Amino acid sequence: MANAAAKDGQDPQLASQGITFAVLPFENRIDQLLVTPCLPGSASSSPSTTSTSGGGSTSVPSAPGGAPTTPPTTATGKLPALGWNSWNAYQGNINEAKVLAAANQFISLGLKDAGYQYINIDDCWANMARNSSSQRMVPDATKFPNGISGLASQIHALGLKIGIYSDAGTNTCAGYPGSLGYESIDASTFSEWGIDYLKYGEPNKSISPRNIADACYFLFIDNCNVPSNWTDNYNPPGGDWYNSNSAIRYRQMGAALATQSRPIQFSLCIWGNANVWDWGARVGHSWRMSGDSSATWSYITSIINTNVAHISAVKYGAHNDMDMMEIGNGALTVQEQRTHFAAWVFLKSPILLGTDLSKLSSAQLDIIKNKELLAFHQDATVGTPAIPFTPYSGAPTTSPQEYFSGTSSKGTHVFIINTSSSSATKQFIFSNVPGLGTSGSFKVHDMWSGSDLSGTYTASSSFSASVAAHDTVAYLVTKV
Ligand code: GAL
Repeated sequence: MANAAAKDGQDPQLASQGITFAVLPFENRIDQLLVTPCLPGSASSSPSTTSTSGGGSTSVPSAPGGAPTTPPTTATGKLPALGWNSWNAYQGNINEAKVLAAANQFISLGLKDAGYQYINIDDCWANMARNSSSQRMVPDATKFPNGISGLASQIHALGLKIGIYSDAGTNTCAGYPGSLGYESIDASTFSEWGIDYLKYGEPNKSISPRNIADACYFLFIDNCNVPSNWTDNYNPPGGDWYNSNSAIRYRQMGAALATQSRPIQFSLCIWGNANVWDWGARVGHSWRMSGDSSATWSYITSIINTNVAHISAVKYGAHNDMDMMEIGNGALTVQEQRTHFAAWVFLKSPILLGTDLSKLSSAQLDIIKNKELLAFHQDATVGTPAIPFTPYSGAPTTSPQEYFSGTSSKGTHVFIINTSSSSATKQFIFSNVPGLGTSGSFKVHDMWSGSDLSGTYTASSSFSASVAAHDTVAYLVTKV
């Protein structure tokens, strides 16, 4: 049974107990969300609850009251992370060999040289029970025979960094121990093991207004294990979601990480709940904007829309996370994979590769190693992302928007997505591009091919290019 389950990406430890979980396409997961009318005054007020995580019974502290306000460390997380994460490729079926293989492929495939740095272990790495005396999480010795610290040493020896997963509930979605009530123990354990990056999941029952105009309606996202007194079922105190129970669960881990000597990048996997874009930068370095990604065009377009709606939250040390990459998974066309990568680049999302790297084709490697796009993403002097602009008066409205511009230390960039399902001619007037001004002449450089286009243009010139269906072109425009 475990072997059959492992083929489906199931966790062998859970599968041997007959526990499997569905990895659903994005659309299906959206269908699981129920819109429910709000019930004023329905917030639970129970003072505490009991967790059985770790095999012992521990009192979980009540929210809120005296919650920490520690900001994230500035010693890491200035730039959006570049790395790999085990979840999209393997879900729960992970082990040291697979994680080390990814690290070695970072070297052999030139990904480390291109700037990729983090090798992140997702859920299902621990034993179901904490150590009964120390209350520490215990790595599953079958999957990780050298422990997490032994693996961390090997990854550090390759000049890379290592990340791990826990979550802000009593248990993870897959049922492993969560960190709620154990933040200090877990933060110091991770630091001692040599962890550089913590992905901290949103396990449950967080209720927040999301994409709904009527604030009296809420989406109930109910997947796992948060005690009822830690959820948000009505507006938080003062209407400030920083003071919501959801935020406080993350603030507690943020504060615990801040007391460690080791800088640990803090990634809030909160699924766009609790208006995280309003307060995420006060707690961590990046925050997930949605439920899980899928290798579909509809996921790519929907997450671009979500990010653009909250684009002003993105700056150095603060990044909207569009979730892990799907290049190498599913049936995205080459053009769609280019848009997937380019959009994560120009919106400055963390880019965590999510596939078995040995299966990437040379065309896929060319996309994810593109030097000029990665340089925009990792720019040392400009931290803000590209934003939408109107290319010419009367341009049609599309969803998502198709024209984006941003600046880097090299100059002004224009990114154009063709959202239609057939090839189309895309145009812009140079003076419409923010920052280019209304005079002078310009040359255009193709960031994908690394070559200059012929000719020069004036501010009133119209540039046009044929763009394949679902493709994205990327240009650097400079004055001549
Ligand atoms: C989800 C998260 C996934 C993965 C999973 C592990 O909440 O969105 O990316 O980490 O938990 O159980």
